[in-house]
Amino acid sequence: MRRPRLPLSFPRTSIRRQISAVVNGRPKFLEIFGEQYPTDSITNITPAIIAKLPLRLHTRPSHPLDTLRTLVESHYSDFAHLSSLSPLVSPFKNFDELSFPQDHPGRAATDSYYVNKDLMLRTHTSAHEVEVFRRGEDKWLLTADVYRRDEIDGSHYPIFHQMEGARIFSADASGMKEVEEDNERLRHRLGQANILIEDVPHISPSNPNQPTHDPLYSELVAQNLKLSLNSLMLTLFGGPGIGGATAAAPLRVRWIEAYFPFTSPSFEVEVFFRGKWLEILGSGVVRQATLDTANVPNKIGWAFGLGLERIAMILYSIPDIRLFWSTDERFLSQFTDKEITTFQPYSKYPSCFKDVSFWTPQNVTLHENDFCDVVRDVAGDLVEDVKKANDFVHPKTNRTSLCFRINYRSMDRSLSNEEANEIQLQVVSRLQEQFGVEIR
Ligand code: DAH
Repeated sequence: MRRPRLPLSFPRTSIRRQISAVVNGRPKFLEIFGEQYPTDSITNITPAIIAKLPLRLHTRPSHPLDTLRTLVESHYSDFAHLSSLSPLVSPFKNFDELSFPQDHPGRAATDSYYVNKDLMLRTHTSAHEVEVFRRGEDKWLLTADVYRRDEIDGSHYPIFHQMEGARIFSADASGMKEVEEDNERLRHRLGQANILIEDVPHISPSNPNQPTHDPLYSELVAQNLKLSLNSLMLTLFGGPGIGGATAAAPLRVRWIEAYFPFTSPSFEVEVFFRGKWLEILGSGVVRQATLDTANVPNKIGWAFGLGLERIAMILYSIPDIRLFWSTDERFLSQFTDKEITTFQPYSKYPSCFKDVSFWTPQNVTLHENDFCDVVRDVAGDLVEDVKKANDFVHPKTNRTSLCFRINYRSMDRSLSNEEANEIQLQVVSRLQEQFGVEIR
């Protein structure tokens, strides 16, 4: 059994307030958005994460994530635009309502942040599909911060931003007429554009329509999804100054069969941009179970989810995902509201590498994500990446030895070796307290 986590870096006042309410080294309650939530043995949300919940970068004027959101919103100007839903959701809403199987790895506490067993941080914007369909919205876009426990490097951060888009139609002749008209309009727009699309069949034995769907309806809806998203790719990547299509080289988009528990058929979209294929989004025809639960059983439609950081990093040439969280004026002042410009790096400060090697206690599994969360919680954005340098099991004692190499580097200033040592000491003592490791 893993030991309960002990969040050490609570702000002082809340430590004092919570000190009488600590069980097994874990505070009995966590304060989030001014509310008290009970903890339990699954609790793994860290103070570093809690501190970032209110920041909502996708709504800060002139921030690249906000500009990208408004660009997608302007493409879907006749859709409802939502961007203020709370990140706290039940696991039921994040997974069960979307037909995720019980043993799906995303549910594990090593992969997701839990406040307690009944409350978690959404891992994707799809978590709100049922709720938004239930409100009666037929076409909508939702932007939000999402949370996943992950490794640490220049393109992974435990918080990122997604946009979910969806459109549903009446599952009858009148609904299909609407789809066909829209398909015609989109085909016309795309026909005039400089775009090369590699497609896959809308429906195939390996990517089937749902048993309750008329295959013809499913086909038309999948077509609408593809036309609509090809058109979005043109808006995002096809603009002249952006480095997308030119007269000589069209924008290249490719469709790939995919699998998601909550869509069928399902697809991924990749775009060829500055010499590389980039994964842009996941999408598909919404599972009927989702629409039934949302109380709109007579509809059929599509949904997609795209990650904003990945696209913004490309469009703005932002080299490190931590920069989105920078409060340095040299970063923030570079951007103008609703304008995509190329990021001018201001300086790259030296790295400071520190290794830590330790034995884990018998019966304790220390997942790489557990290690990374300790480092993030202590070092914040001063950590650039973490690599597992080695692991082995001692043949006689059967104990596991792990070695990690941490690269400390500030984006904004030079970090002294003393400062890095100080942080490293705190990391080590957290590992000892929280996981009972023995430093080698
Ligand atoms: N929620 C998925 C993810 O985070 C992305 C996704 C896939 C969203 C398919 C959708 C969809 O709406 O239809 O990986």
